[in-house]
Amino acid sequence: MADRTRQTIVVDGLALAQGIRKQLAEEVGRYAAAGKRVPCLAVVLAGDDPASASYIMGKQRACSRIGMDAIERRLPASASEQDVLLVVEELNLNDAVDGILVQLPLPEGISANEIAAAIDPAKDVDALHPTTAGKLLLGTPTLAACTPLGIIEILDHYEIEIEAANAVVIGRSNIVGKPVSLMLQRRNATVTMCHSKTRNLREVCQQADILVAAVGVPRLVKADWIKAGAAVIDVGVSNIDGTLVGDVDTDGAMGIASIVTPHRRGVGPMTITMLLRNTLTAYRARTGE
Ligand code: GUN
Repeated sequence: MADRTRQTIVVDGLALAQGIRKQLAEEVGRYAAAGKRVPCLAVVLAGDDPASASYIMGKQRACSRIGMDAIERRLPASASEQDVLLVVEELNLNDAVDGILVQLPLPEGISANEIAAAIDPAKDVDALHPTTAGKLLLGTPTLAACTPLGIIEILDHYEIEIEAANAVVIGRSNIVGKPVSLMLQRRNATVTMCHSKTRNLREVCQQADILVAAVGVPRLVKADWIKAGAAVIDVGVSNIDGTLVGDVDTDGAMGIASIVTPHRRGVGPMTITMLLRNTLTAYRARTGE
């Protein structure tokens, strides 16, 4: 039986996000007060996936709440790769746009990698362009992926020791698994990356001081996978008959983990906050402000 004597903290990602957004709003407000152009994020949505539509609305709302501009480009589900590339090119050339985010997934037949490679790296707030991703790999990041940045902020805020920690990352996506592994490694964690072919996943996870689950397999991580005192970060969101479920059995983690992120108000608000921060970073680098 698991020892459930620990007081597990459920991460309040929303409160943490709001604190950072307040600071960002103050910084944006200083530019506005000085009569300067404010940072601007462009979001591109191809297709009519309702979840994606709701995500981009949330991103635009978050921008306007901190005084940033946001513009939107929508294309029909029938759009071709060339159609999306033309929109990206228009936004690359638009001097008033600081950040470009093309919402994923894209309609069938459109290569996410081709689109990412077309975005001006100076405006690459999703950090999926080969140059941006490569800079993180080489240890000289400019902009970095939003969800991994949010995860590091959470670990730091809750004073989780990253240096020398055993970190286990489940999932090797370009947007979460790979960049968060690199960020943890840069902070001197010993990182193990796991995926669908990993043997003895449960035993590997049992060694983790920091466990990041980002695979989209509902409640994959069970109570007996979690080391006592581990920091458990749940990135996965699956829709099971209308109910959102994470990659971690959160109830099972209670009393074992030191901290655990809930699948609502956990990592999600921090991802959007890091998108805002990346847009401000891109604005500063582009304008020299
Ligand atoms: N779809 C789900 N998450 C993301 C994200 O972080 N960036 C983009 N571009 N699309 C997404």
